Amino acid sequence: MCGIVGCVAEEPVAGVLLEGLRRVEYRGYDSAGMATIEGGALEVRKGVGRVSEIEERRKMSAMAGTIGMAHTRWATHGRVTDENAHPHTSCGELVAVVHNGIVENYGQLKKGLASRGHRFRSETDTEVIAHVVEEEYRRSKDPLRATLSATKKLKGQYAIAVMFQDRPDLMVGARKDAPLIVGVGEKKMFLASDVLAFIGHTDRTIFLDNREVAVLTKDGVKIVGPDGRSVKRRPTQVAWELSDVSKSDFAHYTLKEINEQPQTVVSASIQETERVEAFARAIRKAKTLYITASGTSYHAGLLMKFRLNKEARIRAEAVVAGELKEHAGFLGRGSVVIAFSQSGETADVLEAVKEAKKLGAKVYSIVNAAGSTLARESDGFMLLNCGPEVGVAATKSFTAQVVVANLVVDAVLGGRHSNGSKELSEAVTEALKCDGQVRDLVKEYMDRPDFYFVARGYESPVALEGALKLKELSYIHAEGMAASELKHGTLALIEKGTPVVVLNPTGGTHADSLSSAEELKARGADVIGISDAADDVYRRFIRVPKVQPKFTPIVEVIPLQLLAYHAAVARKNDPDYPRNLAKSVTVK
Ligand code: G6P
Repeated sequence: MCGIVGCVAEEPVAGVLLEGLRRVEYRGYDSAGMATIEGGALEVRKGVGRVSEIEERRKMSAMAGTIGMAHTRWATHGRVTDENAHPHTSCGELVAVVHNGIVENYGQLKKGLASRGHRFRSETDTEVIAHVVEEEYRRSKDPLRATLSATKKLKGQYAIAVMFQDRPDLMVGARKDAPLIVGVGEKKMFLASDVLAFIGHTDRTIFLDNREVAVLTKDGVKIVGPDGRSVKRRPTQVAWELSDVSKSDFAHYTLKEINEQPQTVVSASIQETERVEAFARAIRKAKTLYITASGTSYHAGLLMKFRLNKEARIRAEAVVAGELKEHAGFLGRGSVVIAFSQSGETADVLEAVKEAKKLGAKVYSIVNAAGSTLARESDGFMLLNCGPEVGVAATKSFTAQVVVANLVVDAVLGGRHSNGSKELSEAVTEALKCDGQVRDLVKEYMDRPDFYFVARGYESPVALEGALKLKELSYIHAEGMAASELKHGTLALIEKGTPVVVLNPTGGTHADSLSSAEELKARGADVIGISDAADDVYRRFIRVPKVQPKFTPIVEVIPLQLLAYHAAVARKNDPDYPRNLAKSVTVK
């Protein structure tokens, strides 16, 4: 939930850091800051607001120094204030730290430090780290050893970058349960929460493991394990390109990512047969099978569960990641957990798979970020191949997840998976043509306090996704549910003009959903139909193309994503950075 970027180079780094900061801003946008060392002095500029606002006020890009680090914050400990923004420094500005995570024992550490004369300027857990490192550094005079010993005192999760005022030649990084990646450039080394921060400067990366500590100089990196012994790690190449992180001609990343989906569904379907088969074998053999994820990824997981249960007759449970441990009674040796996560860094998901592994389960994951913690900790993984997703609300990663899940289910069913899907891509292109209709819809409904999304069977998770998207981006209260549940409570909320979206492709549940639409209309609702077939019951109708049943969620989610996006814009919200949310929720 916070973004870190650090750089050690030959030339001034402030520009590179600011660029990186903008790219990791999706991880947190309460406040931001930068620290550099120049002429023996450590300088910090920081404050509350978006990166551009702080740059405007504090001119971070003008900071001198060939070493520096920057941070975007999503507050966990301490309010959103200038003082609580990172970087934090120790007494006498000897040590500066940026941090992502939560130090659970910071209260206790702070008491001890205060009794030894340390004075604190913020309410954060991070500042405590700076003071602990400083104590260790004064003792050992060794940045690596000081950081290593300091991290041993921390309970909780952390990814940190540390600078020492009297060592402008190096930066130290350490992590536990939060991502930290080294970027290996030419006379320019990076430390970041996400490879996006340094794409364009280098595509060579080293993903640090838990409890490792790395020391970066402009010429290279030295990594040690928790025992202080040196660890050899070769850089791996990342496939993402610089153009993947630009908005192109789109007003927002979210809109760009929605419009990328005709390509997304093709690239997601290009998978090695052996990987797909490995998933399928694990599913067939599983004694108990769980699907776990958070947010939008969970909705993709629900779709997979539906097909496994209904078509493959394999019992699968889908449980939100934060709740998986409550199902531990059925998790053990022989169990399989399939985890969906765009980032591969969501703390709830990582915690869930950790618990499941402890109990003996095997973990297979579907992730977008290669090298992410989830991918590395899984017994098998498949990549979404949809390129970086910057908008906080997941859009293209959802469609990619559905494509990948479908390949796996097809393999379980014994079918050969097809590489590339022209038909689906064309259908998505067709679905995107509803943009104008969606804008009209938004004009009419943007001031309504509530929205409902209903569907049946395989479509139900898409109703949940439609409601989630609208809440996240427009801040309009929205609920998604199985249409059959309406009469058990929610109908009481339907008044004249209440907008209700009914997802209703022709096929299995079509007639039943039409009945629900009639029920809603009879109670005054404005029924908005999304389907391949029009009907008089719909006050407004958005046609999506007819596709194979397993692909209906993909074409139906497109108008819902556009609805959320345009509602956000109409209501003057920033669709890329919705309030109070972060893309990668790396705290529990
Ligand atoms: C956050 C994001 C959501 C996302 C969820 C899971 O809450 O705001 O858009 O669906 O995390 O993220 P993941 O990276 O695990 O798919």
